[in-house]
Amino acid sequence: MEDGGWGMVDDGWGMTYFHISTFPHFHISSFSHFHIFSFPHFFSRLPFAVCRLTLHEKMKKSFTILLILAVLIPLSWFIGSCTRFDRTEPLDYVTLDIPDGFPAPVQDFAGNRFSREGIELGRRLFYDGILSKDGNYPCSSCHQQIAGFGTFEHDRSHGYNNSHTLRNAPVLFNLAWQDKFHWDGAFSSLREEAAQPITGQIEMAETFENVIRKLKNDGAYRIMFRRVFQTADIRAEHIQKALEQFTGSLISANSKYDKFKRGEINFTSDEQAGYVLFQQHCASCHPEPLFTDYSYRNIGLPVDNFLNDYGKMMVTGLSSDSLKFKVPTLRNVDISSNYMHDGRFNTIQQVLNHYRSGIQQSPTLEPALIGGISLTTTEAGQMIRFLRTLTDSSFLINPALSRP
Ligand code: HEC
Ligand code: HEC
Repeated sequence: MEDGGWGMVDDGWGMTYFHISTFPHFHISSFSHFHIFSFPHFFSRLPFAVCRLTLHEKMKKSFTILLILAVLIPLSWFIGSCTRFDRTEPLDYVTLDIPDGFPAPVQDFAGNRFSREGIELGRRLFYDGILSKDGNYPCSSCHQQIAGFGTFEHDRSHGYNNSHTLRNAPVLFNLAWQDKFHWDGAFSSLREEAAQPITGQIEMAETFENVIRKLKNDGAYRIMFRRVFQTADIRAEHIQKALEQFTGSLISANSKYDKFKRGEINFTSDEQAGYVLFQQHCASCHPEPLFTDYSYRNIGLPVDNFLNDYGKMMVTGLSSDSLKFKVPTLRNVDISSNYMHDGRFNTIQQVLNHYRSGIQQSPTLEPALIGGISLTTTEAGQMIRFLRTLTDSSFLINPALSRP
């Protein structure tokens, strides 16, 4: 037998053919039972076997049993394989890994048990332009991982048809500890929130009808949705739940500050001085460990006459909520510029200058801020040093959270 070309052996059931070059690492002796052409040979021998059996009545009986078994076994295997195809494997359910010192989460994600597969589906959707009208505006176009899932160095983000969002895109992490979403608290769950950008004309400008049609045309998505939600149908609710699983499971708690709290490293003297100043002047609204109390406050920012944004009042209709905006977290603040609900400041220094001397009086202004916050230039520098310790680089570059 030569190398390359077709080989042939009679293994007792008929001729077996194989291509030698296909299996260069196999010796012919170890390569067995490759039955491509064996079946006709088998059937040609069957009548002789049957004849011999008719000679003995007992054997005839056992042959009948064998024949029944020969039909039943493949049949049951076939039925079994059909049900195996329909049965979905159990999901790998996960619970949130609550960082040391964090309180209990406030979102219970009822009716949407998180699984590794659900989070992965949410991640795919989050990075996929398929959710937007022209394919160009996935969630990740405005919520960029490198900026803590906010928009890097933009006051407001770009949406469909190159429009601008009316507010600055907030960072997305530790959302399980937040009871309401958006700068004015317009949404109570991440599931509910996820529908807004998809259908919003200045965000993704798409309809659920179209999104569902596109997803149903995609084989990989069909399989993933079926696996996670155990139904062949894809509904808006499933898309929203998958996005809730991804965004709700984003946790950032491994900054220099966290390592300092765990006793793993020390602060420099400037960072330490900044930490003390922070506790004195800022922690009442931005308390540790989340660096926000998720309340709504007016910190005396002058109204932008173009945007005319009155914050929480636009949701509740109460004049007592005028100019109140959600206290944002300060975790990862150094890399999440621009700042404030409309992104009006692009450096932390500008933010501090506002607290020191830019506060505008109005009836709903926080009483604590009426006289401003006094910080010397040195103290402002120390404060910035401290705020920089809140950057969690491992979160910002975690490949498990990046574009799949
Ligand atoms: C065109 C830019 C843009 C796109 C695309 C976008 N967002 Fe946003 N997102 C924003 C802006 C701006 C806000 C703030 C809205 C407000 O407060 O009124 C926001 C707010 C949020 C919030 C609330 C966060 C908080 O702390 O209050 C969540 C959650 C969120 N987006 C998730 C998503 C998801 C999921 C998608 C994709 C389905 C998405 N976003 C697509 C710009 C965008
Ligand atoms: C009375 C409550 C209160 C106090 C005190 C306070 N803040 Fe804030 N902070 C807020 C609110 C509310 C916002 C959002 C305002 C808006 O966007 O309209 C904010 C926004 C910020 C932002 C912008 C973050 C972002 O992602 O846009 C930074 C930075 C910040 N504060 C730092 C500080 C520092 C540093 C101190 C102490 C010197 C401080 N804050 C004191 C309530 C407060």
